[in-house]
Amino acid sequence: MKKITILISGRGSNMQAIIRNIQSGILKEICTIQSVFSNKKNAAGLHKASKLGIPTHVIASKGIKRKIYNALLLDWLKNENPDFIVLAGYMKILSPEIIQEFPKKIINIHPADTSLHQGLHGYDWAFENKLKTTKVTVHYVDEGLDTGKVIGKKEVDISDCKTIEDVEQKGLKIEHKFYSECLKKIFEDK
Ligand code: GRF
Repeated sequence: MKKITILISGRGSNMQAIIRNIQSGILKEICTIQSVFSNKKNAAGLHKASKLGIPTHVIASKGIKRKIYNALLLDWLKNENPDFIVLAGYMKILSPEIIQEFPKKIINIHPADTSLHQGLHGYDWAFENKLKTTKVTVHYVDEGLDTGKVIGKKEVDISDCKTIEDVEQKGLKIEHKFYSECLKKIFEDK
């Protein structure tokens, strides 16, 4: 069984979906979760993780130099020694040192097709470009911004969405299911 650590910065809805799948869904007996990490002490996801019985850890990135923060995070991750690091709305860029320490072991979900849109605000981008369909991408994390090898992409029909919020809601619904499906595939090494 693979051991994972999830990194978040905010709401943690993907984290919650993954934990539920580990506890009683498609990831049961496939992986275990040892901890949830946040760089923000007030991240709503921390509370959700605790309610689900998962240990949490915070290193607040605010107010400390990026280099120091990343060194602390690297130390903590080395100590946790997870098989995979799962990013779920983690809003900081991981340092090259962290990425090199865990090659092909860090996975992210991006709310757009990574070949069409990188960086923040993927759903706003889809809405503003009046797309009828958009995609979410699960990918390995490398040293670039959303440039890592793609694990899977899933289409989201947004043709009936009237607002950015509608787009996000539809996208997240797909993310919550699709992320765990991709993790299952990776962890089973299929
Ligand atoms: C999701 O849209 C995810 O694709 C992106 O950040 C958002 C995180 O949402 N990377 P949540 O914290 O999982 O609710």
